[in-house]
Amino acid sequence: MCELDDQSSDFQHKNELSVLSSILFVGGALALPGNVAARASTSTAAAPSGTGKVKYVGVNVAGFDFGVGTDGTQNLTNVYPPIGGQYPDGAGQMNHFSTKDGMNIFRLPVGWQYIVGGQLGGNLNSANLAKYDQLLQSCLKTGAVCIIDIHNYARWNGKIIGQGGATNAQFVNLWTQIATRYKSTANVAFGVMNEPHDVDIKEWAATVQLVVNAIRGAGATTQMILLPGNDYTSAGAFITNGSGAALLPITNPDNSTTGLIFDVHKYLDSDNSGTHAECVTDNISTAFQPLATWLRTNGRQALNTETGGGNTASCAMYLCSQLAFVNENSDVYLGYVGWSAGSFDQTYTLVMTPTGSGNNMQDTSLVKACLAR
Ligand SMILES: *[C@@H]1O[C@H](CO)[C@@H](O)[C@H](O)[C@H]1NC(C)=O
Ligand SMILES: *[C@@H]1O[C@H](CO)[C@@H](O)[C@H](O)[C@H]1NC(C)=O
Ligand SMILES: *[C@@H]1O[C@H](CO)[C@@H](O)[C@H](O)[C@H]1NC(C)=O
Ligand SMILES: *[C@@H]1O[C@H](CO)[C@@H](O)[C@H](O)[C@H]1NC(C)=O
Repeated sequence: MCELDDQSSDFQHKNELSVLSSILFVGGALALPGNVAARASTSTAAAPSGTGKVKYVGVNVAGFDFGVGTDGTQNLTNVYPPIGGQYPDGAGQMNHFSTKDGMNIFRLPVGWQYIVGGQLGGNLNSANLAKYDQLLQSCLKTGAVCIIDIHNYARWNGKIIGQGGATNAQFVNLWTQIATRYKSTANVAFGVMNEPHDVDIKEWAATVQLVVNAIRGAGATTQMILLPGNDYTSAGAFITNGSGAALLPITNPDNSTTGLIFDVHKYLDSDNSGTHAECVTDNISTAFQPLATWLRTNGRQALNTETGGGNTASCAMYLCSQLAFVNENSDVYLGYVGWSAGSFDQTYTLVMTPTGSGNNMQDTSLVKACLAR
């Protein structure tokens, strides 16, 4: 039930990105329309042994993914790059988050269609890549880890990669090009795919293994690679619905798992969707506790690359509670990344875009309460 809710809710959440057809400009800012488990095994076998502080805290800087639907289509008209000028100042935002809030990781979602100029299997589009790279370079300049997130739900134009849609070879080709370009950039991390859903998880794990081989084979031997499971990478469904078991055997070409980190998401509203301003749970006992135990048992780590809520008292309470638990378990949780800053404006329910401009930006209340360090 919760996992089903995870799906439908995240579906709505992400659909907000694809209804940008009604972009409104208000005072120069982008306005989105409207609002736009296993039981916790209380195994005492392994107690948290972390430092009490996760390594990475940050936010998403969205915009290059706008127009992507959960069916893996992207309407390129709706891309809204947070690169300043006529667009939101993503570089300024990351400077603010880095210097004022101690953040050290940013996730930069981008649509597959955008980065290859709509040509499946084609070369990276130089004009589009130049814009995306501009955001990436301004991220790197802060000293943070910068995640390249292909935001396509394991799909190209409605069909699943390697399962009747784009071929594994086409997807591997994408990642080979990206990894070749950034193989010497230590602080780039490779977010293989945002929120796969309704995939055959065993086949999908085989696809992810091919991508890992390709990234390492291209010479990016040390950077972090994020491994995404099924069910919109739900932290709550990761163990119970087969993602953990399927992704666990993925290795580097040298058979190690160094740098191979599981990618999980979690929202805290009534239907786990990330569409409501109020939060109702911290999902510790149903998601983060059992996942922590599983990760510890298997000697692995996860990164929560999307979490958040409305700028409300309930979300401040529950998100801070969730993140306190994650910090206590910093041996298995590498960190968390809030959703979302970037091209979202203050009308978006889950906005983390700071107000103000230039060197005078201010945090939204949830960032101030739970994410700033
Ligand atoms: C893409 O978005 C534009 C702008 O919102 C809209 O006019 C157009 O109809 C959309 N195209 C498709 C194929 O949905
Ligand atoms: C588990 O995976 C199946 C197959 O993809 C899917 O239909 C189902 O909704 C998933 N269940 C949960 C709880 O996410
Ligand atoms: C999250 O918490 C809510 C409220 O306690 C619960 O209904 C839901 O099943 C939980 N979901 C997950 C995935 O942990
Ligand atoms: C990796 O493991 C496989 C299967 O056990 C083995 O055949 C291969 O030689 C190993 N490769 C390295 C580099 O250790």
